[in-house]
Amino acid sequence: IFLACFCTGAFGIYIPKATNITNRKFPSTFIWGAATAAYQIEGAWDEDGKGESMWDRFVHSDPTHIDDRSTGDVACDSYHKWQEDIELLKQLNVKLYRFSVAWTRILPTGYLESFNQAGVDYYVNFVKALRAAEIEPMVTLYHWDLPQTLSEQGGWLNDSTADRFGDYARIVFKNLGPYVKLWATINEPKTTCTQGYASGEMAPGLKLVGDGIYQCARVQLLAHATAYHIYHDEFADQGGNVTIVIDATYNEPLTDSAADAEAAEWEFEFNLGWYANPVYLGDWPQIMIDRVGNRSKAEGLSQSRLPPWSKDELEFVKGTFDYFALNMYTAVAVNAIDEPPIGTGNYYLDKGTGTSYKPEWTPSIAGWLYSYPYGMRGLLNRVWSKYNPGSIYVTENGWATTEDLNDQGRLEYLQGYLSNMLDAILEDGVVVDGYTTWSLMDNFEWARGYTQRYGIIDVDFNSPNRTRTFKDSAKWYSQTAATYCLVD
Ligand code: NOJ
Repeated sequence: IFLACFCTGAFGIYIPKATNITNRKFPSTFIWGAATAAYQIEGAWDEDGKGESMWDRFVHSDPTHIDDRSTGDVACDSYHKWQEDIELLKQLNVKLYRFSVAWTRILPTGYLESFNQAGVDYYVNFVKALRAAEIEPMVTLYHWDLPQTLSEQGGWLNDSTADRFGDYARIVFKNLGPYVKLWATINEPKTTCTQGYASGEMAPGLKLVGDGIYQCARVQLLAHATAYHIYHDEFADQGGNVTIVIDATYNEPLTDSAADAEAAEWEFEFNLGWYANPVYLGDWPQIMIDRVGNRSKAEGLSQSRLPPWSKDELEFVKGTFDYFALNMYTAVAVNAIDEPPIGTGNYYLDKGTGTSYKPEWTPSIAGWLYSYPYGMRGLLNRVWSKYNPGSIYVTENGWATTEDLNDQGRLEYLQGYLSNMLDAILEDGVVVDGYTTWSLMDNFEWARGYTQRYGIIDVDFNSPNRTRTFKDSAKWYSQTAATYCLVD
């Protein structure tokens, strides 16, 4: 179906040359947006009563944790430049801004006794100003900046962190709730578990084997469910929607062998299903229960390294979603491998799959990120049919480059992915209600520091003013968001 669009050529300079130009329109209810996260943009790491987070500690304790030895101490200085950021959002014509609240501004130690009114005031002012600008806030409660005090007490390995998260969520719901209708509890729990508690590349930098990675997943899911229930039990009158943000790749079998097809399915369950299955369907994916259980048994353990849910916990976690929030960037090619050796307690070996990238996919400067636009359509369809979520928001999607204002590669990536998202909407009937591109602006890319830029807006990190400049992709995006037209 091609709906007429009346924007051909009007913005010629930003439209890449294509042979078969068709113009298609997004539904008028679709919401265009952009995304960021507190630690990556705010700076002001110890201002106005803010407590230390595990990322503050991670970057300060050993500069070599970060490729360019940088920190988020100042980052984009958005803590001070928030009014300018709202102006940028207006110029982009977006109607949705996904950002995160820094837990340590609200509860500096993670405990209620440390309550910091200045932190609450800051975010209340911010969401009020967004509303005044007719931009809907989508608030992520947790985007990786756990209070250091809680981290030292076991962090995401300690069940009580889920209760502390509930305390924090309640304060944010109560104060920001009148201005916020879209909530995300936890961002990409898998990344924290695999990179924070297993590879050690991210805060808190632990390199655990055994059950640590699975325990981390369990506690984050309990924390999410705790916040979800607090919202619906205590703040139902606010009428908002709550979910967890899950990241996923599109998994394409490496060859057309049956073994590779099965491996692609395992890969899906060990990544997306690990978090989505308990929330949307109940319990861990069966293949994880089977494989990790069998391997644990072979290791001589009396219980699976994948902790079983109690009946109450199962009920508590199941169904804790009002929409699906999906972070989607890349595809992987998946192949079957011989059964890996037993005895290491390693999640990556538990999967029993190999992953690589196909030569026809375009690589970015980030080793894990390749452009394969069809993957967006394929994954959206999979999420839609498997979890039946009613509504999907793509809460992150973007491209890594070095600093470059003429970012044709990003523009083409976004155009290709959005085109496939539109196919999923118009051709396949998948309900995608909104999209927040990663990212509004260049920012602190975790262990990669400032060496990898994801912004559609450039930030000059050498200028004390942190000057922001629209890249070509931002000019194109602002036109797309204004017209709802996609030229491809
Ligand atoms: C996902 C994370 O949520 C975000 O913080 C990060 O910057 C992007 N991926 C790019 O790696």
